[in-house]
Amino acid sequence: DRQIWLTRHGESADNVSGRIGGDSSLSEKGRKFAACLSRFVHAQKMLFRQKQLENYREKIGSSTPPPEPPERNFLVWTSMLKRTIETVESLDPKEFDIMHIRFLNEIYAGRCEGKTYQEIEQSYPEEFNARKNNKLYYRYPGMGGESYLDVIHRVNPLIIELERMTDNILVVTHRVVLRIILAYFLDVEKEKVPDMDVPLHTLYCLQPKAYGSELTKWKYDD
Ligand code: F6P
Repeated sequence: DRQIWLTRHGESADNVSGRIGGDSSLSEKGRKFAACLSRFVHAQKMLFRQKQLENYREKIGSSTPPPEPPERNFLVWTSMLKRTIETVESLDPKEFDIMHIRFLNEIYAGRCEGKTYQEIEQSYPEEFNARKNNKLYYRYPGMGGESYLDVIHRVNPLIIELERMTDNILVVTHRVVLRIILAYFLDVEKEKVPDMDVPLHTLYCLQPKAYGSELTKWKYDD
């Protein structure tokens, strides 16, 4: 079975100060997660290949062996933001085909970019309450501000691609986008997406089956 690995970026400087959006780099802790993620994904890739060859050997039995099955490609998609790019920096580009995709960027908070939730509540109390009351439909004010629905629409073509591809893949993205991708594969209703629990430093592995996907979850313990 092919594997879709999903995670958020390592902890960033903005995560530490509680600021939303922005384009900050990883914190010390975030860099440690990134290093551990690289080792883990490399090991998982080896394990996958080993299992693939074992299955092949079992199937051929004693008859004249056909050529070994080719190793599956392993793709890596990140957003265009520093914190996801830095999270995959120590993966070996000879082993992984790495692509940076703008559609995987975090929800753009328009005028609220770079603020803490507390600052938003103080500066724009009406906006803060409007979002609290309808997080799915609420669109951030200001140029380019997005809603969950906007992000669902922009991520949709990538989800279709994820569903179609046969390669293994690691997607390193952000809280909102990760909620949307997981919700799609796990059949979570749209209304519940904005409140899904998707903490930092947690790695998910989806294995699509004929009906639904199997989910395994790893928590990085520093
Ligand atoms: O705080 C990290 C972050 O990814 C922000 O950049 C983003 O605005 C926020 O999470 C999204 O989470 P929520 O929709 O729950 O506010």
